[in-house]
Amino acid sequence: MSIQDEIEKRKTFAIISHPDAGKTTLTEKLLLFGGGIHTAGAVKSNKIKRSATSDFMQIEKQRGISVATSVMTFEYRDKLINILDTPGHKDFAEDTYRTLTAVDSVILVVDVAKGVEEQTEKLMNVCRMRNTPVIIFVNKLDREGKPPFEVMDELEEKLDISLRPMTWPAGMGARFKGVYNLHQRNLYLFSPGKTKVEEDRLLIDSLDSPLLDQKLDSQADQLREDVELIEGVYEQFSMAAYLQGEQAPVFFGSALNNFGVRELLETFIDIAPTPRVRETDTREVHPEEERFSGFIFKIHANLDPRHRDRIAFLRVCSGTFQKDKAFRHVRLKKDVRFTTPYNFMAQRKSVLTEAYPGDVVGLYDRGDLKIGDTLTEGEELQFRGIPSFSPEIFRELVNTNPMKSKQLDKGIAQLSEEGVAQLFIQDKGRRKIVGTVGDLQFDVITYRLEHEYGAHCRFEPLSYAMACWLTSEDPAKLKDFIRLKGSSIVYDHDENPVFLAESKWWLHAMMEDYPEIEFHFTSEFKTEQNRVGAS
Ligand code: G4P
Repeated sequence: MSIQDEIEKRKTFAIISHPDAGKTTLTEKLLLFGGGIHTAGAVKSNKIKRSATSDFMQIEKQRGISVATSVMTFEYRDKLINILDTPGHKDFAEDTYRTLTAVDSVILVVDVAKGVEEQTEKLMNVCRMRNTPVIIFVNKLDREGKPPFEVMDELEEKLDISLRPMTWPAGMGARFKGVYNLHQRNLYLFSPGKTKVEEDRLLIDSLDSPLLDQKLDSQADQLREDVELIEGVYEQFSMAAYLQGEQAPVFFGSALNNFGVRELLETFIDIAPTPRVRETDTREVHPEEERFSGFIFKIHANLDPRHRDRIAFLRVCSGTFQKDKAFRHVRLKKDVRFTTPYNFMAQRKSVLTEAYPGDVVGLYDRGDLKIGDTLTEGEELQFRGIPSFSPEIFRELVNTNPMKSKQLDKGIAQLSEEGVAQLFIQDKGRRKIVGTVGDLQFDVITYRLEHEYGAHCRFEPLSYAMACWLTSEDPAKLKDFIRLKGSSIVYDHDENPVFLAESKWWLHAMMEDYPEIEFHFTSEFKTEQNRVGAS
């Protein structure tokens, strides 16, 4: 098969949601369609359980297991689908943000009763940075929830994206009768409890068909009215707008009942993009280029101190990745070779010989690789789009064993390279400030520093709530600002100046006082739309 065929075969995506909306359930159902029945259940058992929140070792153990199913691959209608798993647990949200940099599209799951939740909005913001195409699945229609038009309004408003319903529900909860496919114009009838991949489809040539009244009784007229309203209110589906991340097709269903999932998958296969062009610091890289390139988007450490190896996750962007071949490690300016790269086929970890754009390769690493690193077949280029995101909790790292300062420095530097937390430096290295998105990370860091590096520390709470990367068209103004706001200024691992704000209100006050300074949510996307206050 030619490389072009390999590329056209692949669709690499992630399912994202606020915890409990149904991501794990939907993932399992999709795997069922791909014939991976043996894997269903595996996904569920890897889910980080809510009850384990206070026990991070338990969580790490579960995360360890889930490495094997970090990427789930299945074939459907001649396509090879890579689902990149994202941790639902809020404290690992940064892992999810980074995984989103390695996919070509996403499916967003929303609970019909909850609508758009906090995590949904944050994840969408990350998708918007790269114009990632999004398909929305409104889940749990077998339960009572918000009226569908209300959910649509909320999605449109809070996620700032235009929508096109592809299916529409007839009732919900106890009155849930099925979904109407607006494009194929057929009605798919719901029978609760049917979890097998089965179809119960009613072909109707027109909504006026008496069959509709027969099956839906008094709800038939409601559906007719709804469809009329939809056609009047929502634009037709536009492939171009979807691929630009401007319009999201919306499906309704019940993942638990495997209902509405097939419509979702069929459309996904038809419209989801194959591996896309990627930006680098020098040029665009096209997947069909002959020479290999890829980047590291995630690192998973082995918590067992006797095995210090880590697993780096490489996304192939162009050309062919090959086992044993020397590739250029651009940051370290040296050649590296991987003798046991493996793929993550669910439940099987097998060594691979070749991988193509869209694929994810697991690389054993002894400390050479960090998140954002680029590997190529010689060319000196650096992929963009793997930024650091603003943490939400900040604490000062205090060394409690001065004899082990070196170990502490090394340990915290390596942990931040792995993406466990972000390290900011203040006052020329005198103060180390660690930022995370969840409390749990501080337990993880303390434990790992002690057990893997022999260093001891404690964390002092700080009242900051967000970090903003700073730029200005006027370097002198930026320098002045940094001097004036010294106590709130820190530096990230690339020595970029970062402003720590205690609250949104405070940040906005700063922005008003210093209009010539630009504040950004992430380390990399210093674009207009990503500026604080741009929306
Ligand atoms: P997540 O990965 O997004 O966190 O969600 P997950 O799939 O684990 O689903 C969260 C809960 O919602 C689960 O119940 C799951 O069974 C349920 N669920 C998922 N889809 C549907 C649906 O279409 N209808 C209904 N009624 N429930 C749904 P749980 O009680 O937390 O877990 P479990 O005991 O069922 O495993």
